[in-house]
Amino acid sequence: MSITLPSNSKMLTPNFIFGVATAAFQIEGATDIDNRLPSIWDTFCATPGKVKGADNGNIACDHYHLWEQDIELIKDLGVDAYRLSIAWPRIMTKEGEANEAGLNFYRNLLKKLKAEGLKVFVTLYHWDLPQYLEDKGGWLSRETAYQFKQYTDIATKELSEWVDSWATFNEPFCAAIVGYELGVHAPGLAKPEYGRQAAHHILLAHGLAMPIIRKNAPQAQAGIVLNMNRSYAASEKAEDQFAGLMRETLDNQFFIEPLMKGQYPQILKTVAPQYLPRVLPGDMEVISQPIDFLGMNFYTCNHNAYDPENLFKDVKSKSDVEYTDIGWEVAPHAFAELLINLNKQYDLPPMFITENGAACDDTIIDGAVNDEQRIRYLNDHINSVNTAIEAGVDIRGYFAWSLMDNFEWAEGYSKRFGLTYVDYETQKRTIKKSGHAYRSLLNSRKI
Ligand code: NOJ
Repeated sequence: MSITLPSNSKMLTPNFIFGVATAAFQIEGATDIDNRLPSIWDTFCATPGKVKGADNGNIACDHYHLWEQDIELIKDLGVDAYRLSIAWPRIMTKEGEANEAGLNFYRNLLKKLKAEGLKVFVTLYHWDLPQYLEDKGGWLSRETAYQFKQYTDIATKELSEWVDSWATFNEPFCAAIVGYELGVHAPGLAKPEYGRQAAHHILLAHGLAMPIIRKNAPQAQAGIVLNMNRSYAASEKAEDQFAGLMRETLDNQFFIEPLMKGQYPQILKTVAPQYLPRVLPGDMEVISQPIDFLGMNFYTCNHNAYDPENLFKDVKSKSDVEYTDIGWEVAPHAFAELLINLNKQYDLPPMFITENGAACDDTIIDGAVNDEQRIRYLNDHINSVNTAIEAGVDIRGYFAWSLMDNFEWAEGYSKRFGLTYVDYETQKRTIKKSGHAYRSLLNSRKI
C-alpha cells in the first residue's frame, strides 16, 4: 500500500510544498515552565468531565524538551515544511510585555528548523488563549482583539527572522463556535448568542494583526487558516436542501465571506438573523483586507436534515461509507468538490491545505504500526487536491496532520492522528507505515 500521484501532477514539481503540522498545546507539555501563564485549555482540562480520561496538556509529547529530537523526526519524514503554533501564554506577560524565557524556546526551535532547510509556517493562535484574558471576557470581549494585536507585535518582532509564513488564526470556527456556543472546547461556554460574537472578535483580531505582520515581517506571507467541511443535504426534499445550505452557510461561508467580501452571508439577514454578530462601523473593512494565502483544514463531510429548532441536524450518510476512529466520514470526493466550489464562488488567494489526516486505532506490534486506513486516506485526499489543482484551484502546499500523535482536545490522548506513533509512557516516537509511505511519495520527486 502506497501513496502515489499521477507522474505529471503539479504536486510533484519543485514549487509544491509538502509538510507536517502540529500545534503548541497539543505537543509541548511543560505548561508551568519559563513563566508560561495558564491558558484556557489548562483550565478546561482541570474541569471534571470536559476532557476524555481527564487528560491534560501538562506533559503531552514533551516537545518542549524533546524538540531537537523532533526536528530529526521531521527530517526523517523528508518533508519540505513544518507548520507549528506559538503559545501566546508563553511569550507575553500579563502586563503585555515580551517574556524572554518563552521566546527563547521558539528562537532556538525556529532557528534550527531554518538551519535544516525547512520552510517554517507559524500560526499565532491555535486555541490557547491566556486564562487571564478569558477572565476579562475572552473572545466575547472586543478588547481581546486588541490584546491579540499586541501579542502579534511581540511574536512577529522577535521571531520573524526564521518564519516564512504567518497565519493569524487556526480554525476560527472551532475557537469560537465549539468553544463559546457548543461548549465542547475551552472555555466551555454554551450560549447560542456567544459563538458568532466570539467569531466576529476573532476575525477582527485577524484584521487588526495583518498590518502588524506586514510591518514586522515584510518578507513573509500572511494569512489565516479556516476549517471547512463539505455540507450535503440529507435528501432531495426542499427542507433538507435548506438544512444543507444553512450548514454550509454557518460553518463555511460565515468565515470565508467576511474575509473575501467584507460581509457576513446576506441570507442570514432574512432566515436566521440571530446568527449575525454586533458589528461596529469599519470592522468589515479591517476584516477583509487582502491576505497572501488562505489555509484550509479538511477532514470530512456532513449530511443535514431539517430541524425546526436549529435549522439543521446532522444525520449519517445513507450510503455505505467508511468512518475513521473519531467517527468522521471518509470523503475524499467532497474535498475536491469543496475546493472547486469555493474557487467558483470567490477570487481566492493562493491556498495551502494546512491540515488533512485521519484518526486511526493504531497499535504498535513488533515495533511497527501498520496503519493501512491512514495510508489510503492520505492517498485519496492527496489525489483530491490534485484533482482540484487540475480544475484550476491555486493550491501551493499540503500539510499532513500530524507529525505525531498528540493531545486531541476534548478527546484527550484517545485519538491518534500522527504519522508517528507516540508512546506516552516512554515518549518514544515510531514512524508509522503511513509516515514511511508519505516519505516515499516525497522522495519520488527527486528521481
Ligand atoms: C483541527 C485542529 O486544528 C487540530 O488541532 C486537531 O487536532 C485536528 N483538527 C484533528 O481534530
